[in-house]
Amino acid sequence: CARALVKEFEEKCGTPDARLKQIADALTVEMHAGLASEGGSKLKMLISYVDNLPTGDEEGIFYALDLGGTNFRVLRVELGGRERGVVHQEFAEASIPPALMSGSSDALFDYIAEKLAAFVADEERIYEQPAGKERELGFTFSFPVMQNSINSGTLIRWTKGFSIDDAVGQDVVVEITKALKRKGVDMRVAALVNDTIGTLAGGRHSNPDVSVAVILGTGSNAAYVERAQAIPKWHGPLPKSGEMAINMEWGNFRSSHLPLTEYDSAMDAESLNPGEQIFEKLISGMYLGEVLRRVLLRLAEETCFFGDEVPAKLKSPFILRTPEMSAMHHDTSADLKVVDDKLRSILEISHTSLKKRRVVVELCDITASRGARLAAAGIFGVLKKTGKDVVKDNGEKTIIAMDGGLFEHYTEYRKCLEKTVFELLGDTTGSSVVFQHYNDGSGIGAALLAASHSLYLEEKL
Ligand code: BG6
Ligand code: GLC
Repeated sequence: CARALVKEFEEKCGTPDARLKQIADALTVEMHAGLASEGGSKLKMLISYVDNLPTGDEEGIFYALDLGGTNFRVLRVELGGRERGVVHQEFAEASIPPALMSGSSDALFDYIAEKLAAFVADEERIYEQPAGKERELGFTFSFPVMQNSINSGTLIRWTKGFSIDDAVGQDVVVEITKALKRKGVDMRVAALVNDTIGTLAGGRHSNPDVSVAVILGTGSNAAYVERAQAIPKWHGPLPKSGEMAINMEWGNFRSSHLPLTEYDSAMDAESLNPGEQIFEKLISGMYLGEVLRRVLLRLAEETCFFGDEVPAKLKSPFILRTPEMSAMHHDTSADLKVVDDKLRSILEISHTSLKKRRVVVELCDITASRGARLAAAGIFGVLKKTGKDVVKDNGEKTIIAMDGGLFEHYTEYRKCLEKTVFELLGDTTGSSVVFQHYNDGSGIGAALLAASHSLYLEEKL
């Protein structure tokens, strides 16, 4: 019966603290392995070539492109140095047409370059800005990239909803630069960064105590500042700062301790990247709603949960998106009106009893809590690796720069994540860590890193 199935799902999703601690320990072991050698672990621990985070001295007008989240953004940021900070910023936003996510590399980069060209043309009109010196760009590209320098790097593989075969193995800076030329835009990519690195940079600019960044959005990932000497695979010169920002690509973490169910395995097998991004598939926004759909489908098929017929829409992959799941989860009305509305409008399921709607909310809770608690274990692992897992009695705090739609909008998820991190830290007052949301921190971060790697600034020195 339905109750037995729900109970079984709940048990399989179990994340008691002891298990979360095992997961955090497994993550730190993989972090060491990934830092030791290329290919040493499923955790890539990618070197970002960012060995100096923004100081506040950055000055000038810089652009940023942000590709890889729900929306694609183009930004123009005016930096006024220590005195004036970020003087002005504006942006344009567009979604990437689904066909371009699995088409050709040229088609994707041409589309991006076109949007950037239109943005620059608008800005020239508004600011009556003469072409002047070459514009410089910070490119936030939120996929795993093996960097060779701050402004070059090859795409290792696509993640999330993207799958463009001919781009894999290519230098994404070369690709975007060619597309910009084709569209007549004269712009130099000064910095290529992952969104976690951008968020880390943006966060550090606002608060010098930021040393970890976590994205919880369509995908999930973390970056942090590592001691250069703790990176055996780094054979370059020792940075003056003695530090290097690392893009963990934690989405690809996996461990036998992860509470995987048959729904996760089936979703993974049918995904664009089977066997990859297992942690991401448990915790991030692209997948939570899909796991819920799969559980509801099984309930419908095996227990006639929604009547004699299995609702046709329920068979459609990814039809139930995480924002809709979140809306149902947060439904506080006595008769669960929002749940009823969503079931009707998305899945064409009408006339559900209040009891059944309650089961739907319960399933949202099980799925979201598992994700949030696992993400918390990930954060705890990073804090352990960096020695920040000890609650200081001098009031010292660790600031974590957070971004992504899931963190921003899914309140229950966010609350559960924060509570679990404190639980794991044994911090009863919840004061040792601050989760600071930096909306679009990665765009500003990329512009700041473009500024600190500007050719023109270097020429001036
Ligand atoms: C945005 C950042 O705010 O969040 C992006 O600018 C990032 O760089 C994104 O990729 C992640 O969240 P989502 O929900 O859009 O995937
Ligand atoms: C995916 C990408 C990663 C990115 C994350 C969040 O995991 O592989 O690079 O940081 O999504 O957008």
